[in-house]
Amino acid sequence: MNAANWSTAVSGLRIAKHVVVFSGAGMSAESGIPTFRDADGFWQRFPPEKFATWSGLWKTALTDPHSVADFVLNVVDPIARAEANPGHRAVAALERRAKTTVVTQNVDGLHQTAGSTDVLEVHGSLLEVIDSVTAHVVQRIDRSQWTQIAEALRKYAGKQSSLVSLLAELRKHYPLDWLGRHRPNLVLFGDAMAEPAWTKACEVVDQCDLFISVGTSGEVYPAAMLPDQAAEAGAMVITVDPQASGDCPLRGNAGIVLPKLIDDAFGEHR
Ligand code: OAD
Repeated sequence: MNAANWSTAVSGLRIAKHVVVFSGAGMSAESGIPTFRDADGFWQRFPPEKFATWSGLWKTALTDPHSVADFVLNVVDPIARAEANPGHRAVAALERRAKTTVVTQNVDGLHQTAGSTDVLEVHGSLLEVIDSVTAHVVQRIDRSQWTQIAEALRKYAGKQSSLVSLLAELRKHYPLDWLGRHRPNLVLFGDAMAEPAWTKACEVVDQCDLFISVGTSGEVYPAAMLPDQAAEAGAMVITVDPQASGDCPLRGNAGIVLPKLIDDAFGEHR
């Protein structure tokens, strides 16, 4: 770790009045949820052209429904089992020191599990069911319900059960409707960002004085424009990632770097 960057980050944190933590998949990697673009990433196993849009998913489902069940299982299962890691907990602890808003691209709800209270989920949340026409949340699905759904998907993906029994099992845990309008609140490629989270995120990024980007490759827009937007509005920008770059890069895993950063800035945070 570069000592000058570390000391800049510690001082920045001590004087910050409003911190935005901008997180991506790397934030939850230590909770066992795979990232998208690392060597073992999600999109290596499931080509985005077949799985990363709603229309692509429907098309794939018509020709190869078991592969879609396998894809959904691979999204759902790690999130159903996941627990918040020390990185999430350090972000939650930051709320006691400065106004903190989390802007996350993750759909796993782990910032809230760790105790963060001001979280903007700009790519939606797997834990919410929406009506795809009105975009209203119609129900919440908790991790234990997702664990049951994962079991049903596992059997179907492994061809040990039929589509009829999969649907019967899903209906016990998920509010499937006959018109097919209810679906997880997930922003896939080509979708508009989740609202009102995205509009609020753009506002807080303009107001913050410290912006900490954690575990994101910065490849997916419009979310990826937020670090530059923060810098242009005058905020200090720190990047925490094993491959961090930028003005103040802190290279390492979120679960190690964030607790240490907050400890060094404020003393023991737990
Ligand atoms: P990516 O998979 O593109 O990037 C993950 C980042 O996390 C990389 O920069 C890794 O170096 C870093 N990383 C890995 N392990 C880490 C750890 N333990 N601690 C800190 N950083 C770590 O994931 P995102 O940038 O989140 O969108 O991807 C953005 C969007 O692309 C996702 O929200 C999703 C995806 O397609 C949609 O589906 C719309």
